[in-house]
Amino acid sequence: MEKLKTYQEAFLNFLKENKIKEAPKNLYEPVNYILELGGKRIRPILTLMGAEVFGTSYEKALPAAMAVEVFHNFSLVHDDIMDEAPLRRGKETVHTKWDINTGILSGDAMLILAYQYLEPYEAPLFKSLVQLFSKTAKEVCEGQQYDVDFETRSDVTIEEYLHMIEYKTAVLVGCAFQMGAIIAGVSPDEQVKIYEFGRLLGIAFQLQDDYLDAFGDPEKFGKQVGGDIIENKKTYLYLKALELGSKEEASNLEDLFKNKLDGDDNKEKITKAKSIFNNSGGSAATQDAIKAYTKKAFAIAEELLVSEENKQLLIGFGTYLMNRRT
Ligand code: IPE
Ligand code: IPE
Ligand code: MG
Ligand code: MG
Ligand code: MG
Repeated sequence: MEKLKTYQEAFLNFLKENKIKEAPKNLYEPVNYILELGGKRIRPILTLMGAEVFGTSYEKALPAAMAVEVFHNFSLVHDDIMDEAPLRRGKETVHTKWDINTGILSGDAMLILAYQYLEPYEAPLFKSLVQLFSKTAKEVCEGQQYDVDFETRSDVTIEEYLHMIEYKTAVLVGCAFQMGAIIAGVSPDEQVKIYEFGRLLGIAFQLQDDYLDAFGDPEKFGKQVGGDIIENKKTYLYLKALELGSKEEASNLEDLFKNKLDGDDNKEKITKAKSIFNNSGGSAATQDAIKAYTKKAFAIAEELLVSEENKQLLIGFGTYLMNRRT
């Protein structure tokens, strides 16, 4: 995994060199704050990797990697407002540290900045990148809307859930890879394959995110553990617990997710929901689904027209994602 370190360091250097120093402070301070808070930097690494596995120097993909990471961070700032989340990467969320209006506007500025990072690419490369980026960005908004709509629905199906996470999360993972492939100038067939690899890994990634949201270590996870339960999110854990649990477990769980509670009442809600997730088999089913989607992704990686070494790089990254705790 030496390569991953190289990509991460190159990306962090690029980020440092591109720090925004402009006024007004109240617009750009939160932008630098969230971008410098860290995070795993998965998506920019994928863009750099996507370029290199297809034989192009990763340096050429740095601006696109930046676009993807800035877009991701924009989506997090707005997501944390929508999810009423107090913590991100172990620190206060932007709207908690500043206020909601600041989160909205700084987020908006980041979305625009993300596009500006694509400006150094010449036509026709520029057009291909922007087309993919815009399609993906719109789908992320659609996924986020479904996610919020599902909070107040009690009849969400697994199929609807999978569609929702594909849009809110997986398409950006696919896009991150494909942007690298576009920069490398590979055929549309190979672009589709690497996108598909990312999309499947992205589904596994969001399933894992849901799992960690309930069962992660608060010291490591960096977000409020139980946040999805507080917000009545219809996660895979929840939906599978309803499907696999006893009648009593299912009706108790449905009752728990009818209303939003305040303060200490949430502690009891979280404990009860987690115990139903475990006892019903919902947790085990989520673990199985994470493995199944990762395996599907690996089958696609095997089909890519890249060297064996590069296949192993992609598969190694997928394995790391599946085993992550943050
Ligand atoms: C969080 O993404 C949002 C999801 C799509 C689950 P990450 O887990 O990649 O967040 P950071 O960037 O590493 O903090
Ligand atoms: C977020 O999903 C997806 C996007 C930000 C588009 P979550 O709401 O599960 O992400 P976290 O858990 O807050 O990081
Ligand atoms: Mg959230
Ligand atoms: Mg959310
Ligand atoms: Mg989450």
